Amino acid sequence: MSVSRRKALQIGGVGIIGALGLAVPLSSVDAKSASQLDAKNMPKLYQRTLPIPPVLAPKSTTMGADGKKTHLYQIEQTACMGNIVPGLSTPLLGYNGLFPGPTIKVNQGERITLEMDNVLPLFHPQWGYRLDTSTHLHGSASLPQFDGYANDLTGRGLCKDYEYPNFQPARTLWYHDHAVHNTAQSVYSGLAGQYHLHDEVEQNLLPQGKFDVPLTISDAMFAKNGSLGYNDNTHSGLWGDVILVNGAPWPVMKVQRRIYRFRILNASISRSYRFQLSTGDPVTMVGTDGGLMPSAKQVTSWRQAGAERYEILIDFSKYPVGKRVELRNLSNKNNVDYDYTGRIMAFDVTGDPVDSSGPAAKVMPTLLTGSNVMNLTPSQSVKTRRMRVKRDNDIWTIGGMTWDEVVKSGYKKVLADPNLNDVEIWEIENSSGGWFHPVHIHLVDFQILSRNGRPPFPYEQGPKDVVYVGEGETVRLLMQFGPHRGRYMIHCHNLPHEDHDMMSQFSVGYDSGDPDPNDPIEAVKPHPIGQIVPVPGGQVAPSSEETETAQATASQTAEATQTGGATTATETAAPVTTQPTVQKDVVTITTARHRLRKDISFAGTSKVTGTSTAASVVLYDATPGRAVTRIGAASINSLGNWSWSTKPGPSRQITMVRVDSSRGGTATASLSTK
Ligand code: C2O
Ligand code: CU
Repeated sequence: MSVSRRKALQIGGVGIIGALGLAVPLSSVDAKSASQLDAKNMPKLYQRTLPIPPVLAPKSTTMGADGKKTHLYQIEQTACMGNIVPGLSTPLLGYNGLFPGPTIKVNQGERITLEMDNVLPLFHPQWGYRLDTSTHLHGSASLPQFDGYANDLTGRGLCKDYEYPNFQPARTLWYHDHAVHNTAQSVYSGLAGQYHLHDEVEQNLLPQGKFDVPLTISDAMFAKNGSLGYNDNTHSGLWGDVILVNGAPWPVMKVQRRIYRFRILNASISRSYRFQLSTGDPVTMVGTDGGLMPSAKQVTSWRQAGAERYEILIDFSKYPVGKRVELRNLSNKNNVDYDYTGRIMAFDVTGDPVDSSGPAAKVMPTLLTGSNVMNLTPSQSVKTRRMRVKRDNDIWTIGGMTWDEVVKSGYKKVLADPNLNDVEIWEIENSSGGWFHPVHIHLVDFQILSRNGRPPFPYEQGPKDVVYVGEGETVRLLMQFGPHRGRYMIHCHNLPHEDHDMMSQFSVGYDSGDPDPNDPIEAVKPHPIGQIVPVPGGQVAPSSEETETAQATASQTAEATQTGGATTATETAAPVTTQPTVQKDVVTITTARHRLRKDISFAGTSKVTGTSTAASVVLYDATPGRAVTRIGAASINSLGNWSWSTKPGPSRQITMVRVDSSRGGTATASLSTK
């Protein structure tokens, strides 16, 4: 699997050379590795035990009026140190300081509110961009305002309360950062974790507990001092020379002589794999991105691109005690491989007493379960849409669009606008040479109908939300749009492609110009950490009783709501609280302008300064003669400035604005209309 760098660029990057000339000076790159570690610090094969990320415990669980549980979880995104390469520490970003993040496990029908706190440094310590985040639960049909829309950003010191419905069939999901233009570097730095949705069907068919093992696989390169290296070859892709499983290089797992279930997530930002066991034996594939397949498949090797999930079963009872079975990578076209990227991890078969409790310990299941998406037939489709994925003038595009166009349209422009519950066929074509593109469609599960006119691979014959579109491939996908209305992203999951700018959106169930109560940016705003804010509309609000009592002793009602006698029902439905030690803010408005049907912008100052003091302002339409309504919110930066703008803005002229600081203090101003 060893190739020289020059060869690698020829194999892996015809397009790099063709489109851009060489992005990397060849002389600076060692032929056999991307990392610049000294030999003594370079990780070696099979020295580490496979780490298993901890399962996150809820902060609280409440019973809803409908008898269903709602779990409240909290995660802090922080800078942290990883122990990856021998003898050196690696600065990372982590969910609760962990890479991968803790695993969340939930049963179907139980809701989750996830308080996602951003306590990261204001700027990325290595790469300097501002560490605003947006968290996507990949595989969940969440409402748009909880889906990690790229521009629905949560800044330092703020928290966003994400609501996850968990009504879908059991599956392996993952949560990861989705911040506009910086997704690749933030995920690469560590912002990724698994999320397991269980249901009764799956719990009766497949191994559970310690025999249900998450394997989050990624690749990385390291600088001499142990920090992560980053080189995406001018947005083509990053190809690390060190393979990590659950954050450890080429680890080993001891196994009993029984059947295990592995949930394999490719969390690499660019690399795809072709997995195979060193024995050449097939694995039993039971699950795809969207959960159980209709029937199990015996698979000797399979290719898996970024964000794809496959659940496999391996029966270790057929191997003698002491046998080492390796999971290897045969790689695929358009990757760059190094000496050890063909190795992933190893399983050491032990003579430990076999725990054969639980389903599928000894006998492989064959028939699994159907699903709505796998029961769809092409005759139900009311529309076929075609889109191409390609590079245009150094910019990656999808369906002829870029995310920049979506942003410039005020988030209005869409690639497709299916009606609620419509079934459609989407055909995605990759005819440019040199690249593969894993295309991810948010909200839906889809069925792969064909690839280049032939049936999909056996291992793809289950519910999917990412499809591997290899060089010269055209895939046809069948899906039904729902159950939510609103705007959702579609993009390439080679994350440097996504960031530059291979992402677009589609809108479900709206005519253009319809009001959107599920606006992905406006419907639910982040709030300062530690404050409780009402969740307008959407799903059931978080367990407010529980959190209120927990906070009651340490909180007082802020002036913002005391003076807000005319705020709307949702604004007054729950108290806004702040820490009692906080001093009252003085807030000013320096810019207030609303040009009807063009744009609206506000800016101002606050006396809250410094990066450790999280604070924000909420803007209200205070036009005389109208009920006061919320327009938006902005965080106050470390210099005490805030600003907020949008295009084209509200359709009614606003003439007066009120600004409330989260630290108390309020100001009003009249607006310029030009
Ligand atoms: Cu896993 Cu839109 O992403
Ligand atoms: Cu791509």
